[in-house]
Amino acid sequence: MNLQMERISSYAKTLGLSRIPEILDSIAEKAADDDISYTDFLEKVLEAESAAAKERSMTALLRFARLPFIKTLEGFDFSFQPSIDKKKVLELATLRFIHQGENIILLGPPGVGKTHLAVALGVQTAEACHRVYFTTISDMIMRLTKAFNENRLQERMRVYISAKVLIIDEIGYQPLNSEAAALFFKVICKRYEKGSIILTSNKGYGEWGEIFSGDSVIASAILDRLLHHSTTINIKGDSYRLKEKRKAGILKSLDERRC
Ligand SMILES: Nc1ncnc2c1ncn2[C@@H]1O[C@H](COP(=O)(O)OP(=O)(O)O)[C@@H](O)[C@H]1O
Ligand SMILES: [Mg+2]
Repeated sequence: MNLQMERISSYAKTLGLSRIPEILDSIAEKAADDDISYTDFLEKVLEAESAAAKERSMTALLRFARLPFIKTLEGFDFSFQPSIDKKKVLELATLRFIHQGENIILLGPPGVGKTHLAVALGVQTAEACHRVYFTTISDMIMRLTKAFNENRLQERMRVYISAKVLIIDEIGYQPLNSEAAALFFKVICKRYEKGSIILTSNKGYGEWGEIFSGDSVIASAILDRLLHHSTTINIKGDSYRLKEKRKAGILKSLDERRC
């Protein structure tokens, strides 16, 4: 590397522009070959640095999000699940719901793609440089209860309140006792009209009383706030997991027995 390149690299490092030292040589060489203008050259350098900065921030946001896996809307087979209004999902993917502080509730039996869609919207959120945080309800309640017992509830609460979008997965698989319901209610209240929630549940709204150990008062207080500004996607269909197993022949004998 010549002295000028070394100086440029050093300036770039001081300014936190970490991509420039890596690409400068090749861009400068190509610019000389193609005889491009100074402004075109500057544009190419800044374009590469800005792409790298976006990638770094995306990596940090995805690490913070704690998504269980990476899934995208492109990877979702809408033809397998005709009960889903694809247009509605694509409208949600514009992320207007975030700016309006709206919630998304995905309901349906196991395996129909609730977590997949929630995660895909979470990835879109991170791509738009907003903070998203994923948790299952059981993990959130376990951590909040622990924090409460250790006298640091406020601190833990901030994790669930500070993200622009909070994904709460798997509501309804396990009943919540009154302490757990009170903690859940607190999270809902703190986010109400401030930050969006994406929630998944295997239980229809009519069955939510059961989740809260028959306490229909807290169930309706929670639903009231959640549903005030919200979109519900009610998925009625077959499990994608079973489709894959069926394809592999694992469930063939079961199907035959059923017929
Ligand atoms: N329509 C679909 N197209 C592509 N993959 C799907 C679809 N529905 C579900 N899957 C996949 O099937 C598996 C189970 O889906 P998941 O979202 O975990 O279901 P749920 O949360 O409703 O139980 C995941 O690997 C998911 O990516
Ligand atoms: Mg799921």
